[in-house]
This record gives sequence, C-alpha cells and structure tokens, in this order.
Amino acid sequence: MALVLPFEPNEPSIEALVALVKADMERVNAAILARTGSDVAMIPEVANHLISSGGKRLRPMLTLACAALSGYRGEGHIKLAASVEFMHTATLLHDDVVDESDMRRGKLAARKLWGNEASVLVGDFLLGQAFRMMVEVGSLTCLDILSTAACVIAEGEVMQLAAAKNTQTSEDDYLAVIRGKTAELFAAACEVGAVLGQRPKAEQAACRSYGMNLGIAFQLVDDALDYGGSQAKLGKNVGDDFREGKITLPVLLAFRRGDEKERAFWQRCLEKGEVSDADLAQAIGLLTKHRAIADTVERARHYGAIAKDALALFPACPAKDALMEAVDFCLSRAH
Ligand code: IPE
Ligand code: IPE
Ligand code: MG
Ligand code: MG
Repeated sequence: MALVLPFEPNEPSIEALVALVKADMERVNAAILARTGSDVAMIPEVANHLISSGGKRLRPMLTLACAALSGYRGEGHIKLAASVEFMHTATLLHDDVVDESDMRRGKLAARKLWGNEASVLVGDFLLGQAFRMMVEVGSLTCLDILSTAACVIAEGEVMQLAAAKNTQTSEDDYLAVIRGKTAELFAAACEVGAVLGQRPKAEQAACRSYGMNLGIAFQLVDDALDYGGSQAKLGKNVGDDFREGKITLPVLLAFRRGDEKERAFWQRCLEKGEVSDADLAQAIGLLTKHRAIADTVERARHYGAIAKDALALFPACPAKDALMEAVDFCLSRAH
C-alpha cells in the first residue's frame, strides 16, 4: 500500500552537515576569530564585521566532512577549513568592491562602511593569514591545491570582467567563469579533506569532482536567485547582476531566445549600467517568458546529480549522507 504523507516531505536542509561537523566547526570558528587579530585596529574591525554577520560556512564544512568521509584522525583539517573560509571571506571583500555591491550577509557591505581601499587591503590580510595556516598544517599537496585555487578564482573573476556587458558571451565562456570564480574553491575545499585522509587518488579525485560540480550548481542557483530570489533571504540585493551588466546564464538564455526588440532591450540595459526598477521588472518578465530562470535551475540540477554520483565509490556513512543532502540543500535554495 502506498504511503500517503499528510504533508510535504521536509525541505532538504544542511542540518545533517552542520550536526556532523559541529564539534570541529566550533574549533574552526575559534581559529577564524583568533586569526583576524592584528595590532592594526581597522583589520579586526573590518574582518569581524563580515565574519560576525554569519554566512553559511558551507566551504569549511565541506572540508571537515570530506576529512570525516576519508577517516582522517589528525588535527590539520581545522586549520585548513579555517583557511578555506578565509579565502572565501577575502574574495567576498574583494568581490563587493569589483561588483560595487552595497549589501552582504544582510548588512551593509564593508566597502560602504570603510571604503573600497580598506576592503581590498583587509581581504589581502585574510588571504595572507589563510596561507600562514596552510603552512602550519605542513601538507605541500594541500598548499598546492589551495594556492592553485587562489589563482584560478582570480582568473575566473578577471574572465568575468572581460565578458561583462558582452551579450556575445557563450554558455561555455560563462561556465568557465563560474568554474573559476566559485567551483574551484568548493573543489579544493573537498579535495584537501580527502588528501589529509591519505585516500587513494581515485577517492581524492571523487571528492574534488563532488566539490567542483556542487560549486557549479551552487553558482547557477545563485545566479537564478539574483533575479528570482528574495533580498531578505539572500542578504544581498536582488538585481545586482543586472545593474552591473553581468552576463549570467539567465540573461544568456533570455537573450538567445528573444526577438530583435528584446535583444535590443538587453543590450541597452546591460551596456548602460543605469537601469530603472521598471527595467529590472521587464527583465524579470522576459526571463520568465523564456523559462530562463527555470532552465538555469535545471542546469544546476544536472551538476548536482554529477556531484552526487561522484561520491558513489564511498560506502554509506553519516558523512556521505550529509554531503549528499548538502547538494539537495544547495539546489533547494532556488525555490
Ligand atoms: C557567496 O557565497 C558567493 C558566491 C559564490 C555566490 P555564499 O552564498 O556561500 O556566501 P556566505 O558565506 O553564505 O555568505
Ligand atoms: C561570487 O561572485 C564568487 C566570488 C566571490 C569570487 P558573485 O559576484 O556572483 O557573488 P555575489 O552575488 O556577489 O555573492
Ligand atoms: Mg562578482
Ligand atoms: Mg558579487
């Protein structure tokens, strides 16, 4: 007999992951706080403004969970997870300058309070601290993976800059950008967990692939939410990408699928920079008409499925379950 549920099954959540790494994460948070310290007062001020605003701490949790999945018993995962979050925090400080964003994690972006210069420089400090912690852990392989990630993230951001306002950008170009600016750090965060556990190469590669594909899915969903999400939930302004002329997948799809008049609209708005609320409303209307947001989420589901399949070679265990559910959580942010 079929089981009839009286209500919708629970929304996928990140709770299993949070619970799995709870004890380790407390130590990671302590390391994060300790490493923002500096005699230069503005550094902890700016860093703590952003860090105390929360954030999901998704990337360090992935490092911890992949270390658990790999049966790692040492101490290095704490500092590597803190390094990963510092790299992320540094990129956010820099990113809000590059994107001229006003809100981050539900608060004013650091650059609105202390200025662009302070944001960039404190981001540099955090990046430096991240590398010091990696050196303390002493794994050259992990240092290689994370320093490579730092370069690839910057490449992704510069690639994106070069593609800005250009409606001729291909979907492949877009994918290369999000692999670099976002997915590479997810991949590195996961891979170093498995490297610490000294797992066979195939398992290290599986963790990396899980992170890479989850990261792509994550950014696709984020790009859908920039048009279809709620500001309160996101903690950042909806429509930022449109105002900046950022060529994300929803725009690419609507542009391609649109007629001449619609393409002229996109070109005008993305190139002009100063768009009205009515323009944003029209853009969202066109995205809806052409199923551009729904199809972006559909693409995200595809990469989410690859991420899950990458973990197939690990036996069932709480860490694997938590990582699998983390994929569904990232996808469910979309609705
Ligand atoms: C924001 O990442 C940057 C993107 C890659 C879209 P998160 O959404 O993970 O940011 P926090 O850390 O939870 O604030
Ligand atoms: C996120 O870039 C990736 C990095 C921070 C490197 P976005 O610019 O797309 O993310 P949000 O929307 O500012 O969080
Ligand atoms: Mg950006
Ligand atoms: Mg941004």
